[in-house]
Amino acid sequence: MALVTVDNRIKSVVILGGGSAGWMSACYLGSHLQGSVRLTVLEAPSIPKIGVGEATIPNLQRAFFDQLGIEEDEWMPEVNASFKMGIKYINWRTPGQAAPVPRKMGRGTDYFYHLFGLLPELDQFPLSHYWANKKQAGGTDQDFAYACFKEPPLLDANKSPRWLDGRRATNYAWHFDAHRLAAFLSRVATERFGVEHVQGEMQDAVLDERGHITALRTKDGRTLSADFFVDCSGTRGLLINKAMAEPFVDMSDYLLCDSAVAASVPHDDERYGVEPFTSSIAMRAGWTWRIPMLGRFGSGYVFSSRFTERDEATKDFCDLWSLDPAQAELNQIRFRVGRNRRAWVKNCVGIGLSSCFLEPLESTGLYFIYGALYQLVKHFPDKTFNPVLSDRFNREIETMFDDSRDFLQIHYYFSPRNDTPFWAANKELRLSDSISAKIEAFKAGIPVDQPVTDVSTYYGNFEAEFRNFWNNGNYYCILAGLGLIPDGPPTLTYRERSVARAETVFQEVREQQGSLAASLPANHEFLRRLHGNN
Ligand code: TRP
Repeated sequence: MALVTVDNRIKSVVILGGGSAGWMSACYLGSHLQGSVRLTVLEAPSIPKIGVGEATIPNLQRAFFDQLGIEEDEWMPEVNASFKMGIKYINWRTPGQAAPVPRKMGRGTDYFYHLFGLLPELDQFPLSHYWANKKQAGGTDQDFAYACFKEPPLLDANKSPRWLDGRRATNYAWHFDAHRLAAFLSRVATERFGVEHVQGEMQDAVLDERGHITALRTKDGRTLSADFFVDCSGTRGLLINKAMAEPFVDMSDYLLCDSAVAASVPHDDERYGVEPFTSSIAMRAGWTWRIPMLGRFGSGYVFSSRFTERDEATKDFCDLWSLDPAQAELNQIRFRVGRNRRAWVKNCVGIGLSSCFLEPLESTGLYFIYGALYQLVKHFPDKTFNPVLSDRFNREIETMFDDSRDFLQIHYYFSPRNDTPFWAANKELRLSDSISAKIEAFKAGIPVDQPVTDVSTYYGNFEAEFRNFWNNGNYYCILAGLGLIPDGPPTLTYRERSVARAETVFQEVREQQGSLAASLPANHEFLRRLHGNN
């Protein structure tokens, strides 16, 4: 036992970058390090961008905002937020160039929903498996999501997930303007968490003989010293990739998209309502997101430059929404797919786009930020920088990213589309061993994930969700949605009583669908009241 205790604590942290990642990091560290560390954000004067909309997942509230003590009704109006009950995949099964998306979609239209939440379990199996069992026996013509989730009719009817008195009816997430989120969080960070905000552009990083960063120098001659540095500088990775020279592991052999063209499109909410979901519309060489917010929607065509020219992609995108390419304010984007070999090196950690990037197909962008922050706080070092902490952190980030990459890849891999060189090329790619094993389980009729024992706390227990991020329900929504229907588990053929009990649950789902659709207000009405312009 040491008699003299040395204070090895990190005294100061500098965060480079003032986008979503920078300000989320500032708030999260401010809250979790409880005032013991001096926090500074160095933000370069920003180049204003058009807000094309950010989509999120339900744990944003519990795993991020609740940690800062900020309620949904406080932050939603600040960022022009709207509701999202899931993702609607359109034209992912139908060959041909994306047809104009019909406003009303009935039977025969090619779409399926990816919804939030876990399915109820009966006798060792989630409801999905009873559905597959029944489907294979010809006992139902219902689609998976409509049979097992209470939400589909609410999405069809543009309902709000909350009643007008504020009560919540279901699991949901949000769409909003990420620039406004950064602006809001910058106020929270400085006012509530005492974060220092320095405006200026970084000139270079000063390293010591061990290769640790000791300070950042700005172009106007200031020096910001700290014990630990968080790189939120975006895809350039100014600290982690440039100063620390950590290599970026390219993953374009799993996912072919590397570009996007995006715009903000005006929308007549009064006339058409506001959709409470994100859409993902399959295109010739990728897919287009549609993120509804009040008065407009953000949209972007994510494509592979190997399979379509930027001009052709821009034309396809403009055709989809009847935009005039000469008039529309278009954002042309090029991205790198993959992650840094190590997310944390010595006394520098990358958070956000400086660390990893995945196309926004499953809305993982902000989740990767607060997921990493959750792990960073759990493994936060002192000045001895015990490598066990950074090694563990790096492994968590690797799994978080690679599992998500694999989950995205199967959307393309199992889509029956084969009609363009892009869709055909996706079928030639290799799947990782880990996802292949999960697909085998799926096909054999057993759950792909470890059973989650307490279904009701999934979104309340971030550790559990982080461990089991892509769960059985997520796999079923996508794979069954794309038309892959596994056999039911053989064991159910012995258990007629269990199968009969599942029938009661299917019946309950139908009843809930009916009563919620009848009692929830229109999404547009809820949002208009929330944002105070009714
Ligand atoms: N665990 C996440 C959730 O259910 C999985 C997820 C990420 C997800 N993105 C999604 C589910 C989009 C549905 C739609 O929230």
